[in-house]
Amino acid sequence: MKHIQIKERVYYIGANDRKKSLFENNWPLPNGVAYNSYLIKDQKNVLIDTLEFGAKDDYIENIKAILEGEQLDYLVVNHMEPDHSSMVGFIIKEFPNIKVVANSKAFKMLEAYFGLDNSQIHEVKDGDVLEIGYHKLNFVLTPWVHWPETMMTYDSTDKILFSCDAFGSFGTLDGGIFDDEINFQFYEDEMRRYYSNIVGKYSNMVQKAFAKLEGVDISVICPSHGPVWRTNPSLPISLYDKWSKHESEEGVVIAFASMYGNTEKMADYLARLIAERGVKNIRIFDVSKTHVSFIINEIWKYKGVILGSSAYNAGMHPMMQHLCHELEGLNPKNKNYALFGSYSWSGGGVKSLISFADKMTWNKVAEPFEIMGVPDSSKMGGLSEIADNIL
Ligand code: FEO
Repeated sequence: MKHIQIKERVYYIGANDRKKSLFENNWPLPNGVAYNSYLIKDQKNVLIDTLEFGAKDDYIENIKAILEGEQLDYLVVNHMEPDHSSMVGFIIKEFPNIKVVANSKAFKMLEAYFGLDNSQIHEVKDGDVLEIGYHKLNFVLTPWVHWPETMMTYDSTDKILFSCDAFGSFGTLDGGIFDDEINFQFYEDEMRRYYSNIVGKYSNMVQKAFAKLEGVDISVICPSHGPVWRTNPSLPISLYDKWSKHESEEGVVIAFASMYGNTEKMADYLARLIAERGVKNIRIFDVSKTHVSFIINEIWKYKGVILGSSAYNAGMHPMMQHLCHELEGLNPKNKNYALFGSYSWSGGGVKSLISFADKMTWNKVAEPFEIMGVPDSSKMGGLSEIADNIL
């Protein structure tokens, strides 16, 4: 493969993973994922983050080809999650004199995973600068974006921000590496799904990271997943700003769990009522069919959330329980919500949905509505109040 240059001395050496089914063995990857690694060739040669083990069998050869016989002097470890760090041991074995650049929070993990001792580590603190010749690398500690030890590296010479997980996306890089080489429509949904499910829980820390980066002149963003932003770096910044402030768009997500179709009929009836009131963005999901990550993505996007469940063992349906568990953990905010459901014996589905919603900081727009038996139109009156008020 030809070398991919970001700037004269800065190279992209990432890899696509089309084999893995589940990111973190949890999140579906229908479009795969890219792990991005970068190499700066200067008086001191620097590798910025590695790859997930096995993603690229010629990774070391690629590095050597760019180095043309020179040594690798530093490996910057911005983040210890193994999708970026599981090649650290191989790099050290190949380049035994290398120094690993990391902050103190990563030290214990570097020792525990790779047996590194202090003599192999170059510690950096927030605001430290490492001069490697033409380039000056500035380190910005950004804890919890996405784990406690995470930091970003800013090259103040070429004005490149190596942002790690921030501004990343699911989806492989299919030929196009840079934002001006891709159709972003393909990536926007996957970028938000990545944000909402992986980073969104720590939205307040994203805002703190933004505060630290205030006034920094950024011409290129090199994240650890997804496209490299060399033409319009302000776009991912504005999207992350919006998502981390929990700003949403006009629209409604109806997620239902239905054992034999009655609660689904209520969802369809309700969606029709909402459409008649002029709402164009309405998305209905069967939680038993669609993985929660896709539903959470849409919930993060839209203002209205309506959850419906049949009763199941005197509680909500187990698949709805899964969605509620994830929502409680990820904690999307600024939502209007309503609840509905159906039952045959003593109920309990809506009651347990109420217990979930009480734990959220969402705005209730209508009383929960539950029916027994067949949901014919004569019983659906309570859904009108939800349709009237959801937005
Ligand atoms: Fe892409 Fe938090 O690892």
